[in-house]
Amino acid sequence: MYGTTHPHPGQPFWDKTTPQYARKPVGDPATYKEKLARLATLLRPTDRVLEIGCGTAATALRLAPGVGHYTATDGSRGMIDIARSKLGPDAPTNVTIGLADTLEDIEGAPFDAVCAFSLLHLVPDLPRVLDYIRRQVKPGDLFISKGSIPVRYAFPILVS
Ligand SMILES: C[S@@+](CC[C@H](N)C(=O)[O-])C[C@H]1O[C@@H](n2cnc3c(N)ncnc32)[C@H](O)[C@@H]1O
Repeated sequence: MYGTTHPHPGQPFWDKTTPQYARKPVGDPATYKEKLARLATLLRPTDRVLEIGCGTAATALRLAPGVGHYTATDGSRGMIDIARSKLGPDAPTNVTIGLADTLEDIEGAPFDAVCAFSLLHLVPDLPRVLDYIRRQVKPGDLFISKGSIPVRYAFPILVS
């Protein structure tokens, strides 16, 4: 479905970090639960959602039951292997998990919503990634980001 044609420079770091990352419990479960609830109110049951930099798909698998289809991608094979291992019989059936860099075109674009959680502060070329995100989401639809990015970059996407 997706290639590894654009491995990002941080990929070896994330591949190496995956086992610890996957074992780490959520820092503040109550706040995480609140965030999930807030996110769920922003997404519609028919939405086709893309999440980039999904890590081990912990958030993807929680949000998927509330939307039409959820595509979760990450540039680290280690993260994606763990994410895919969670697609057991109890997992939501409307989830596609794929290995992809933030600049890689994703099958199914444009989406109703694009999500990036704790990702954008990590990418080396933020304006290029924001432009890419703009192309993955339908005009006038939703881009949801958690984490910090400079306002000068966020503003054009917020008003577009
Ligand atoms: C801090 S983790 C956040 C994971 C997940 N979004 C979460 O909130 O738990 C950052 C993730 O972004 C991925 N990542 C970093 N740079 C990326 C890039 N350029 N393309 C795709 N994934 C990237 C890493 O592999 C890692 O899984």
